[in-house]
Amino acid sequence: MNYGIDIWGLNNFFIDNDKVAINYGNEPSLFEIVKDIEKEGYEGPILLRFPHLIRKQINTLYSNFNRAIKEFNYEGEFKAVFPLKVNQFPTFVEPLSKIAKKYNYGLEAGSKAELILAMSYNHLSAPITINGFKDKDMIRLCFIAAKMGYDITVTIEGLNELDSIIEISKEFGECLVNVGIRIRLHTGGSGIWAKSGGIESKFGLSATEIIEALEKLKKENLIEKLRMIHFHIGSQINDIAPLKKALREAGNIYADLINLGAKNLRAINLGGGLGVEYSQNEEIRDKNYSINEFANDVVFLLKEISTKKQVRMPNIFTESGRFIAASSAVLITPIIELFSSEYTKKALRLKDKNPPLIDEMNALYESLNSNNYIEYFHDALDHLESLLTLFDLGYIDLIDRSNAEVLVNLIIKKVIIFASQKGFKHTELKKINERTQEKYLANFSIFQSLPDFWGLGQRFPVMPITHLNKAPARSATIWDITCDSDGEIEFNKNNPLYLHDVDLNKEEYYLGFFLIGAYQEILGMRHNLFTYPNEATIEFDEDGNYKITNLFGTQTLNDILIDLDYDIDEIHRKLKTLIENTNFNEEEKKELLGQTLLYLNDTVYLKK
Ligand SMILES: Cc1ncc(COP(=O)(O)O)c(C=O)c1O
Repeated sequence: MNYGIDIWGLNNFFIDNDKVAINYGNEPSLFEIVKDIEKEGYEGPILLRFPHLIRKQINTLYSNFNRAIKEFNYEGEFKAVFPLKVNQFPTFVEPLSKIAKKYNYGLEAGSKAELILAMSYNHLSAPITINGFKDKDMIRLCFIAAKMGYDITVTIEGLNELDSIIEISKEFGECLVNVGIRIRLHTGGSGIWAKSGGIESKFGLSATEIIEALEKLKKENLIEKLRMIHFHIGSQINDIAPLKKALREAGNIYADLINLGAKNLRAINLGGGLGVEYSQNEEIRDKNYSINEFANDVVFLLKEISTKKQVRMPNIFTESGRFIAASSAVLITPIIELFSSEYTKKALRLKDKNPPLIDEMNALYESLNSNNYIEYFHDALDHLESLLTLFDLGYIDLIDRSNAEVLVNLIIKKVIIFASQKGFKHTELKKINERTQEKYLANFSIFQSLPDFWGLGQRFPVMPITHLNKAPARSATIWDITCDSDGEIEFNKNNPLYLHDVDLNKEEYYLGFFLIGAYQEILGMRHNLFTYPNEATIEFDEDGNYKITNLFGTQTLNDILIDLDYDIDEIHRKLKTLIENTNFNEEEKKELLGQTLLYLNDTVYLKK
């Protein structure tokens, strides 16, 4: 079982005997890296960043568009910016900025804070694009960026923003920024993020407003500043058809605007949306196109429309973020418990005289074999149900009930072994597995690390990073450590996840969640005050040896509370007073206080 690594893995990882290894440099395994980090004293979930995968994606984006441009004799250029909303963390942005230089890759900002980042990390020759709602201060900041020497395009989301640009141009004596217009297409996107496009979308100007903007720009002698039209039909475009429709619509708006006098209009910005394949299952793909097809369609269609309407071919801008960032981060979470692990033979407390059904269940367990296990499994479930009814009616006690639980779980474990020897081919065996899932408690928070799973049901590839030379036998549900029943990735029989039956007293077991580098970190919530996991960057030197840099531990309890604006000294004082008011002697009080303060300096994730 390879967990669909050939579907979602982009050849970035491979299975090397029993472990997931990195297909780069000296090909270390993820397990080896995790152990190196743990040796430094870090425990709990670890987010690994791979700058070489950011470079790979940027290169793939540029090379595909430049290839298509050559192939179709396209007369415009390809330009791209990274939308900062996708990942604003310094350990992502700093390596991205270094890689960007060679490609003249720019940044997109959607707020004043992101704009400051763009102004600090963009290369002067690379473009900056500005989207989202803007007040006058934000537009002034854009003018300041232009004064610094940046080629910055402010995309207006409404006519009032154009009025602000006109007013600020007067303050500065001239319009220093390029103007872009976000167009409200009637074409909508598809998939769970499709709301960004379409006639009801929150963003963009209608056809009437576009014409009004054009007239305003002409009246103010600013028409030569209109350089770009922009659209974005939603993140994670899963079907190429709406994109093609959107391109036709945008291409015609572009050509008509030039014909109406927008003499310097030179670019179409497609926004983001280039999809990522998250699927682990051949049958349920997340998107129906490749980057190759995407680039071909964009270049071909824009050439066709420009030629037909006899206007110059536009430069093509993209703001793809997910495509660039998703693969660059992997979360490794230790499994700290298997729900059924307490159901061992030792947990049986059989009495001298048991209820007859318990004795029968015990006999089923002892005599279960590869011929009778399906029948005995059914009998055991039947017995369990009867025993639970007897308990409710007061005929058996808590010890009997516990014995019933233990026995049924012992039987299930045996059944799974026999069933897995037969490869789960039989539908009845599949059903057994679906009904008897193992719950894996993983040391992480879904709310913090996979918020799109919680909020939108977006699935991320998940697989164990070891044990891969053994067939996984257990249908798995993953529980996180928050006190929230939503903190669960339930077993889904249409998209099943099987994991290994491990004895955590003897071996370690880690799950890797892949493709989490886009959006997840900044959207992550501090539910139950579980904050960022530990993190590290994995870099490779010229000889291919990996080194761990930017190793940061997760926050201490003190820091978490300070972040919430608690007065930490006040908290320390309160705790100290409570301890001082106890009846312990001075020595014991000191010890108690010391221990409490030590915990406040420790982290929130669980320890072994
Ligand atoms: C205007 C704009 N550009 C670019 C993006 C990035 O999209 P993606 O990460 O899907 O490429 C977004 C995200 O929704 C956006 O709103």
